Amino acid sequence: MLVNATNMLLKARDGHYAVGQFNINNLEWTKSILLTAQEMNSPVILGVSEGAGKYMTGFKTVAAMVKAMDESLGITVPVALHLDHGSYEGAKACVAAGFTSIMFDGSHYAIEENVAKTTELVALAHDHGLSIEAEVGSIGGEEDGVIGMGEVADPAECAKIAALGIDFLAAGIGNIHGKYPANWKGLDFEALDRIHAATDNIPLVLHGGTGIPAEMIKKAIALGVSKINVNTECQLSFADATRKYIEAGKDLQGKGFDPRKLLAPGADAIKATVREKIELFGSANKA
Ligand code: 13P
Repeated sequence: MLVNATNMLLKARDGHYAVGQFNINNLEWTKSILLTAQEMNSPVILGVSEGAGKYMTGFKTVAAMVKAMDESLGITVPVALHLDHGSYEGAKACVAAGFTSIMFDGSHYAIEENVAKTTELVALAHDHGLSIEAEVGSIGGEEDGVIGMGEVADPAECAKIAALGIDFLAAGIGNIHGKYPANWKGLDFEALDRIHAATDNIPLVLHGGTGIPAEMIKKAIALGVSKINVNTECQLSFADATRKYIEAGKDLQGKGFDPRKLLAPGADAIKATVREKIELFGSANKA
């Protein structure tokens, strides 16, 4: 059932668990995530980056596919279709395309401009029944082979953005996208505590969920995180299972080259990763 993400995250905040955002890249990704959420009776958020949207030929295609698949598979758990790290233009395009939730990432703007653009997009999103996430303090990650450490968001800036009527807030606490480097210092829980105290109990979002140890995930949830984004980990498990299939020569046996067979181990591997995360985040049976 397609819905916005507001209520599922308020419930998660009050129930002290987190809802997973799993990024989608194609039909197999979407199907694996929807089926696993349904099997586990868990709410779920499908994340779509601007790049993935473009890959799938545009946000309209994505919205049409997700809506139709949600219906055809008889999905009854709450599902939000959410733009991940949206630009100002991308956020507007997703509202028009029929997404149920958007993220506007204005973290690279000066705070005044982030405030102005977020304010405008909050009104637009809410007028159309969508939920909206904003970001303060950019989340680091790998760019051109260089791993940038994540910024730690300023609690006063977080308070300013949280007060604009957004539904959930992404704040950098030393988290980064992709694999964590060996010398990563871990999440900054003192910063998380200060941000939580400054933002009136708004549900907080933890980006870069791949590779964060289970104990840190649990502590982050205890300190106010209600949504955790996972992307790379599904990509890694998909690639690993696909590689094993091909290395075992299975694509050369019978009709093993049929994409429905070739992509099946990867699709199953995504399911296993999503299942593991839903268990860790505590959202099973919370639909
Ligand atoms: P990972 O790719 O590190 O899991 O991060 C996902 C994310 O935060 C998407 O916004």
